[in-house]
Amino acid sequence: MARKIWVFDTTLRDGEQVPGAKLNQFEKLEVAQQLKKLGVDIIEAGFPASSTGDFHAVKEIAEKVGNTNDIMITALARAVKSDIDAVYNSVKHAEKPLIHMVLGTSDIHVEKKFGKSKNQILDIGVEAVKYAKSLLPDVQYSTEDASRSDFEYLWKTIEAVVKAGATMINVPDTVGYAEPEEFGNLICRLNDRLKNLNDQVLLSVHCHNDLGMATANTLAAIKNGADKVECTINGIGERAGNAALEEVVMAMNTRSTLYNAYTNINTQEIMNTSRLVSSFMGLDVQVNKAITGENAFAHSSGIHQDGLLKSRDAYEIISPIEVGLDDMELVLTARSGRHAVKNALEKLGFDTFTDLQFEEIFSGFLAMADEKKEVYNHDLYIIVENFFNENNLSNQAGMSENFFELMDLQVINNTRPSASVTMKKGDQIFEASAVGFSPIDALYSAIMKVCQIDAQLTEYNISCISRGTEEVGKVKIQVEFREEKYTAKATDADMMKASALAMINAINNIVVDHLVPVR
Ligand code: KIV
Ligand code: ZN
Repeated sequence: MARKIWVFDTTLRDGEQVPGAKLNQFEKLEVAQQLKKLGVDIIEAGFPASSTGDFHAVKEIAEKVGNTNDIMITALARAVKSDIDAVYNSVKHAEKPLIHMVLGTSDIHVEKKFGKSKNQILDIGVEAVKYAKSLLPDVQYSTEDASRSDFEYLWKTIEAVVKAGATMINVPDTVGYAEPEEFGNLICRLNDRLKNLNDQVLLSVHCHNDLGMATANTLAAIKNGADKVECTINGIGERAGNAALEEVVMAMNTRSTLYNAYTNINTQEIMNTSRLVSSFMGLDVQVNKAITGENAFAHSSGIHQDGLLKSRDAYEIISPIEVGLDDMELVLTARSGRHAVKNALEKLGFDTFTDLQFEEIFSGFLAMADEKKEVYNHDLYIIVENFFNENNLSNQAGMSENFFELMDLQVINNTRPSASVTMKKGDQIFEASAVGFSPIDALYSAIMKVCQIDAQLTEYNISCISRGTEEVGKVKIQVEFREEKYTAKATDADMMKASALAMINAINNIVVDHLVPVR
């Protein structure tokens, strides 16, 4: 029978240790609420002894998110009374509070960091657990740097703190030094002894990613008996980060026969959680990051797009829907092959072209793709209409007069940013100006005045790529129209122009889908 694996999320503690990622109390609460929606079993909400701000944030999370008994709230303490008191006083408001304490077990920590003997450190740990246990029934003990510790001393510590009342033992690979086979073996040996000592105590792992093996080590631990995993969203955390929750959970789901274990995670909340954490912490997700990276479900090469259109399982092991994304959409670029372009045209109703006609349209597509990078449905209409016009055929597409085109723009960034745009739709020329609280706000307000579509901007990302002395701005936006989300991109040497073009791409996508009678 499949075993339940507990998911302990430490995005708000280990993740928050990333330089510059500190959240305010409101943001911490929002993230904690989202983590509860995601279905994590335990939230580590912070390190309350570090600041009064963190103390209050943990307390608020305990009160407002820990108010049901399907989730535990914890926070970190060193094995000292004042830290344990700070954790107790902040988490005690939760229905299910947990005290988490950490103390090193490796020679490096015992001798070099603390300058004490092993017996002295062990006694400090035992006394700290006894004290924590006098406050709350649930206590987790982390043997910091466990993977570089002498095995017998590590076990002696675990045995002593379990006898003192610890209910969870966490085995960290603090510096990301472990290797999956070796770490799995360590967990197997500890699990064997622990289950003989007290089978009610949960064995947990906490892996760092310094050698890129945090997820692999965590999964090896699951295979070898670990009951609980500590992770962060997007794998953020100290230095190279922690095991990414989404990777561990999706590996377990996708290869369920290998792991024979399950979690309570609602995987459809993964992308929402990832985006919230990334935007609040200001930490971009690497585009090719497994599961939550922008390209994780994007298929760009012609060979792959062709394979997917024939059978999705040719190149897809996880449906994007499982992690909360829209269903697969093939992005048309200069690398898309004929099959993908033909398929996109057919979806728009153009399914009667001869092979020769299609070849001409495909050349038009390639020229457009070279210029625009990504080709949208409204671009396909324009390509097809050009083909009809050039061949003196009657225009069966008849859509291009509904699309907007940017002719000119001017943005002034002073105390009251303003923007003016000149745009074209069919034969008509429109001009509009607007002020805004930022140059982009002014620019988008001016564009919206022309288009008169009630779409809301929900995401705006800009990245700048330098090529020698030249800079190229890449803008990606998302807008919402009638509860549907539209993503569009544009690239230009001028960031403002790239921003305007991305918005116009999104608006033209809306026009295609809804044939919105605008203007
Ligand atoms: O990496 C580590 O050892 C930790 C402990 C506090 C669990 O973060
Ligand atoms: Zn850590």
